Amino acid sequence: TRLLIHFCFNASFFHTFICCIGQVAELVAKCLQARELAYCPYSHFPVGAAILTSGGTIITGCNVENASYGLTVCAERTAIQRAVAEGHRSFTAIAVTCDIKDSFVGPCGACRQVLMEFGTEWDIYLTKPDGSYKKTSLRDLLPLAFSPAHLAKD
Ligand code: THU
Repeated sequence: TRLLIHFCFNASFFHTFICCIGQVAELVAKCLQARELAYCPYSHFPVGAAILTSGGTIITGCNVENASYGLTVCAERTAIQRAVAEGHRSFTAIAVTCDIKDSFVGPCGACRQVLMEFGTEWDIYLTKPDGSYKKTSLRDLLPLAFSPAHLAKD
């Protein structure tokens, strides 16, 4: 019995582990694909994002610029708004990429705050164009954050 329990525990641990790796690989691949769709005729700076929901669905976004520059929407916020509009509110991770090859680039401050609206426990994968990534977290990228919890009445 001990052996069986040992096996089951390790098998399920292994399964979870492999699934996680598979999901991250897919998330990273999808943010790279999303970057290809960026509409950025003014900055020529394409960005792609892919969000993982708690249910395992991946929703992507790219930056969408505007002739009235200030109306530009970042890839991360395009993805979040799309996800919410499709009925998702619980997320675990986001992968973000741009064309910069020699460093890992984080989401802008506005996008960090928008991510915070939907949870403090985001894993963030800063992805280079070659698919290599650095894992960080929203907690680390937005310390001492203002969040919906601060608006609670009691
Ligand atoms: N951009 C994003 O999509 N995400 C970020 O986190 C930073 C900036 C976009 C906005 C604009 O279209 C272009 O990158 C240059 O700022």
